[in-house]
Parts: sequence; C-alpha cells; structure tokens
Amino acid sequence: MERIVILISGRGSNMQAMVEAGLPVAAVISNRAEAAGLEYAVARGIATVIVEHRDYATREAFDAALAQAIDGFHPELVALAGFMRILTEGFVLRYRGRLLNIHPSLLPAFPGLDTHARALAAGVKLHGATVHFVTPQLDNGPIVIQAAVPVLAHDDEARLAARVLAEEHRIYPQAARWFLEGKLVIESGVVRVKGDHPQQLYAP
Ligand code: GRF
Repeated sequence: MERIVILISGRGSNMQAMVEAGLPVAAVISNRAEAAGLEYAVARGIATVIVEHRDYATREAFDAALAQAIDGFHPELVALAGFMRILTEGFVLRYRGRLLNIHPSLLPAFPGLDTHARALAAGVKLHGATVHFVTPQLDNGPIVIQAAVPVLAHDDEARLAARVLAEEHRIYPQAARWFLEGKLVIESGVVRVKGDHPQQLYAP
C-alpha cells in the first residue's frame, strides 16, 4: 500500500489527524527530539526518526540527511505538518509533485509566520487554512484544498487559531487521501480533483 512520511517539529496534531483518519503512515520524522508529536507516533507503533537540524553545519547537509531518512521508507507522499524548517530548492525539487504542506491561512494571503495575529490585524472577515503542493517559494504552490473560517467580532489569536486548526484536521487527511488515490491533477499550476470533489470547506 502506498505510504506517507510525515515531517513534524512540534505538537503534531495534523499528523495525529492523518493517523486517526486511517491513512497509511509509514513514519514520522522530526527535526527536534523534543517534538511532542513523537510520543503519539511511538504509542501508535509508527516508526519515528529524529534528524536534528542542529547537528548539521548547512541546510544542504541537513536536507541530504533528511532525504536519506525519508527515502528509507520509500513513501509515495511526503507531508509537512508543522515542520518548521525552510527546505532547500534541491530538496523540494527531489520530491516535486509528492510533497504537501499545510499552512494556517487562505493562501496567497499571509504566507510565513503569525498568520492568525496578522489576519486579525488586517481585519479580514474570512481566514482559514490551505493544503498545497510545495514549490521552492515559501508557502506557495498549487492549492489542493482550502477551509474558510469566519473571523468573529471577539476573536483573539488563540480562539481563531483553534477554529482554524479544527479545519486543518479535516482538510489535510482529505488532501492526503486524494493524493494516494491518484485523484490530484495539476494543470498549469492549478489542482483539480478527479471526480469533481469540492476543494473547499466552510467551518460549521
Ligand atoms: C499548524 O497550524 C500548521 O498549519 C502549521 O503549523 C501548525 C502545526 O500544528 N504549519 P501541529 O504540529 O500539526 O499540531
């Protein structure tokens, strides 16, 4: 069965959502030994690997070690799930077309960090999350699915982040499943899902 390698740096709740959705997760790899998500993976009997970025002098050397760890599992799909390292172009191109990321905003709005605070400061009325194929440009790349979340009058960063996260847990497993089922087609940088499944969700 086709399998997924998930890269995390911390909590790992998106990784957990994929496991709980019954997706075939071959391994969880973290760049930080203290990533909380590793405990969950170990408890579920999933292989875990730690590739500490601090042990490598350059991004290239780290990415080479990471690629070696990933390739040992022969995954179909590599999923970034809260993986807080900027990847080299060489790494991204090696996994071109089979590297997904989840980002907590409606891209192309708010790439980068602190998306919820920036959404509140900008006064947007809709915020959300995006699953996209990874390209060498940060938080860019063909969009697979987005979830829209209303920004409510009394939202603060924590409340908004929690509602967006709940949607992340719905859209990332869906996107990964479509990928493994061979349903994702990229045409001129735009992703279509075979069978015309809706590529947007609205927070209930
Ligand atoms: C999520 O908000 C994800 O969109 C972002 O980092 C966070 C990771 O959370 N890239 P978790 O580790 O999956 O719980």
